[in-house]
Order: sequence, then structure tokens, then C-alpha cells
Amino acid sequence: MALDIGAVREQFPALALTHNGVPRIYLDNPAGTQVPRTVLDRMMQALVEFNANMGGNFHTSRLATETSAEAHRAMADFFNASNEREVVFGANMTTLTFMMTRVLAGRFEAGDEIILTQMEHDGNASPWRIMAEERGLVVKRLDFDPTTYEIDVARLDEIITPRTKFAAINYSSNILGTINNVKAMCERYRAAGVLTYVDAVQFAPHGAIDVQELGCDFLVASAYKFYGPHQGILWGREELLSTLPAWKLRVVKDVPPGRYETGTQSLEGQAGTIGAIEYMQWVGRTMGAEFVPTKPGLSDRTRAVHAGLLAMAEYDRGLSRHLIDGLQRIGGLEIRGITNPERFQHRVPTVSVTKSDLDPAELATFLDQHGVYVWNGHSYGIDVIERLGLQDRGGVLRIGPTHYNTTAELDVALNLIEDFVKGRVRPD
Ligand SMILES: Cc1ncc(COP(=O)(O)O)c(C=O)c1O
Repeated sequence: MALDIGAVREQFPALALTHNGVPRIYLDNPAGTQVPRTVLDRMMQALVEFNANMGGNFHTSRLATETSAEAHRAMADFFNASNEREVVFGANMTTLTFMMTRVLAGRFEAGDEIILTQMEHDGNASPWRIMAEERGLVVKRLDFDPTTYEIDVARLDEIITPRTKFAAINYSSNILGTINNVKAMCERYRAAGVLTYVDAVQFAPHGAIDVQELGCDFLVASAYKFYGPHQGILWGREELLSTLPAWKLRVVKDVPPGRYETGTQSLEGQAGTIGAIEYMQWVGRTMGAEFVPTKPGLSDRTRAVHAGLLAMAEYDRGLSRHLIDGLQRIGGLEIRGITNPERFQHRVPTVSVTKSDLDPAELATFLDQHGVYVWNGHSYGIDVIERLGLQDRGGVLRIGPTHYNTTAELDVALNLIEDFVKGRVRPD
């Protein structure tokens, strides 16, 4: 059964808003998605009914504590983690990653090597680079092919050495849209005794994540990219989170995940994250029957959430096709990502384009005047932009639909882009 787009859109109040009298078209989803009612309800409930700090011996504090515990369980199911002690909440992916550089740095000695893919968002590059500088580590890059926009995992055999100790892996690029073969990379790294840290921020809204299947050591995501509130989440293997050092206050119990959740956590953020999981469960239960995973041992919630995400991913591939076909029809635009429909399993619907005489900022400004929201520039994916030689050309125009967008919305954007690139119009 295909996604019921009407039912989906009804869940998101922001989709009904207008911009100067025309419907808003949100194609800025790689930078942050809109939220469904379940998220708003959960956040409102937390802030109205039990806005208390956690851990107290009174009614509202107990409710807050239980909500936080449920948020950890919900995210454990989202990731198919072994248990909720493997789930650490934090401000956002970048802050959690900086914390993890401090946690891990002591394991490495001068001359050790770390490998980053060339597709990293800077949130999974600069923290490790800074750690490497401080510890005297060598930073190597796993490049992507700038014509296919994919990474050849076999190249790892040339790059990994006995000194390789750590690898940062991009699950899906926020510029190219490529989905990397994380499982194959983790297999090679694991065989070489290399710790792996996966940035799943862009993949999480577009596919089912199974950390046990991937075989990684750490994985990070941000709820605001998967229909939730501004909230970062880290998954780590329990044996690592129990034994690695933690920079914690004396009064905090020395057990995961609390030893890494410093200071007062965002109760409303965790409550809203439960709401995002509930939304995905709803999609799975009402529209995802054919996508329910059959793997034994999954919880009912994991099955429902993953079915929802897989139903969304199939719909996303239709959006990719429509958008890429339309951009190709306009002509003269270079699509910086996979365009072969047979390889759409290897991309999310984020599509970046360039044209030699086109200023992406001007085009984004023009689209905004018509209620179409897109990003331009590097979107912090600076390693990708530099690899493509686009840093002095204003980066890319990034069109980022997700499962609540329609092909009709894409047509509005495509018509405007065509008018602009053919010089029929200019921003006011
Ligand atoms: C791939 C990727 N990684 C990391 C981040 C940073 O996430 P956060 O804003 O939660 O720090 C982003 C944000 O756009 C991203 O797209």
C-alpha cells in the first residue's frame, strides 16, 4: 500500500500555513523537518503537566523521570539497540560528538591514524580533526568518486594500516544524498580493530537504522531531522559506554547513559522525541504493512517504526525520480548526486544542483519569494563542496523533499527554477 499522503500531511500543522497567500513548500528538510501533532502534544503535555526536574520524590518529578526513561526506550527501539542504557541524549549531534572526542581521545597515541570519509558534514569532521591535532594523530580521508558520487569501500584495504584506530562514517550525505554502505565499512574496520562512529543525521528520516545489523560502535542522530524537536541522540555499545571515561559531576551515578548526560536534560525534547517515534509507528501500522521487517527478535515498536520508515523511503524514491527528471528536463543544470533510477536505493531525496553562471543564493531568494524554501551554499558539508571545487561558486542549491512533500509541490519548484535559469525572471 502506498503512503496516504493526505493522511500524512494532516498530521503536520505547519504544512497548512501560507506565505504571502500561497501555500508554503518546505524543501529545506535536510536542515530540519516539520513536526507532527504527536510531537506537539507530547511537548505541550510535558511542559504543562509535569514540568519538573527529574529524580525527585513527588508526582510531577516522577512523571518527568518516567518520560525520560520512555524516551530512552523509544530511541533504543528506533535504533534496534540491545537496551536503553545504550541511548544518550544531548543538545545536538555536534555537541555530543565534541563530548565523544574527549571521551575517546585517551585511547589514541601520537602517530595513530583516524579515517574520515570525504562526505562528512563538518559535525563529524572538525571534532575529530581537533582531537587528532591535540593528540598528534594522522587524519586520512576515504574519498568518494566525484563522477558517481559513491564511495568504493574496497579502497579501505589501501588506507587501513595497523596504526588505524578510529573511523568516522557518513551514513548519508547532506549535499549529495548518497547513502553509504555503512555495514560493509564497519565490517572492514571491525576486522582491523578500528572503532567506528556513524553520523546518521541525514539518513534517519529516510530509512530504518539497525545498529546491531550495521556492526558499528557509535551512531548519532538528531530528532529535529526526523520530525521531532531539537534534540541530539547518541547510541553506543553498552560495554564501551560503561567502561570509557566520562566527564561527569561527582553526584551523578557512574552508569550509562546518565554518566554522559551532563546537566539538566531537555525534558520537552525527550518527550517530543517520543512523539516523533509515535508518528513513525502510526505510519508503519496504518501504511506500512508490506514493509514490516521479518527479522526475528525485533520489538513490536521497532517493527512498526521501521515499517513506517521503509514506507516513507519508498515514497521518497518516487520524489527523487520526479525531481531529478524535472531538473534534467530543464537542462543546463548539473545534478551533484546519483541520477540513475536503478541506484535510487543508494540515495535519499536530497538533490543538489549547480550551473556555472548561476548564483545558488539568488535562486534560493527567488524561490522564497514564492513560498518555496530551499538551502544554498555548503550547508556545513564543506569537505564535499571543496572536493567538487564549488567553494568559490556559492556551493549548491539544495532541494530536500521528504515524505510529506508531493510531486505537485515539486512541480511548483521546478517551474520556478526553470523560469529563473532560463532568465525569464529575477528576484524582486
Ligand atoms: C549529516 C549531518 N551531520 C551532522 C549534522 C549536525 O547536526 P546537529 O545540528 O544536531 O549538530 C547535520 C546537520 O545538518 C547533518 O546534516
